[in-house]
Amino acid sequence: MELSKAPTNQDKQIAAAAYNKFSQLPGAQHIATDFALSHLSRLLFDIQPKRVLEMGAGIGTITHLLIHHPVAIGKIVSTENNQFCLQALKENIGKSTDQWTLVPDLPAVLELGFTYDLIIIDGILDDARGYAVFQNGVVCFVEGIRKEIRDALINHLASRPLTCQFTSYIRPPKLRFSKKRLFGLIPKLKYQTKKGCHIARIAN
Ligand SMILES: C[S@@+](CC[C@H](N)C(=O)[O-])C[C@H]1O[C@@H](n2cnc3c(N)ncnc32)[C@H](O)[C@@H]1O
Repeated sequence: MELSKAPTNQDKQIAAAAYNKFSQLPGAQHIATDFALSHLSRLLFDIQPKRVLEMGAGIGTITHLLIHHPVAIGKIVSTENNQFCLQALKENIGKSTDQWTLVPDLPAVLELGFTYDLIIIDGILDDARGYAVFQNGVVCFVEGIRKEIRDALINHLASRPLTCQFTSYIRPPKLRFSKKRLFGLIPKLKYQTKKGCHIARIAN
């Protein structure tokens, strides 16, 4: 599925607000990139989802963007069960509300019994029962690379039989300094990896 257009300045501002806030917080090494966040913002404007499922809330960068996005999403359900992240979510997002529900895993998502317009995958999808939430018409947004997860989802859906054709948006390569040091002193230059995001609408 293709976005209607490239992320606008508004999308970039929304992404930067979330990224700049969360990149300063403990545990920030695993947060979504500002590139992926700006594409997610554009997707939200494009599809105006009423209910969103977020798999892998981490420390809450995407959660924060979803809660505060101008499209005013009615219901957001996030999964997380890592103890460090649960404490971070308490501090960074707060308690569950009518709009936002935090659950530990996919079986708990299924117990809620909702359907979703958009499913965001920024964590693991390690419980086959969780595939039940991927229904015809649902839009999937995958952050990062996660090729194995995308391939497993595509293969699973093919057996139902449904299709899930991802459009990949890949961050342009950029030179940056690596954490590694040459001779223990000089920072090494390296290209950023092929990270980005991948978007598909499930169809039959
Ligand atoms: C890529 S992270 C999710 C990041 C989140 N969407 C964000 O942008 O803040 C995926 C998974 O890694 C684990 N994780 C994330 N940050 C972690 C940390 N600082 N320490 C340990 N586990 C972490 C969590 O279980 C999380 O669900």
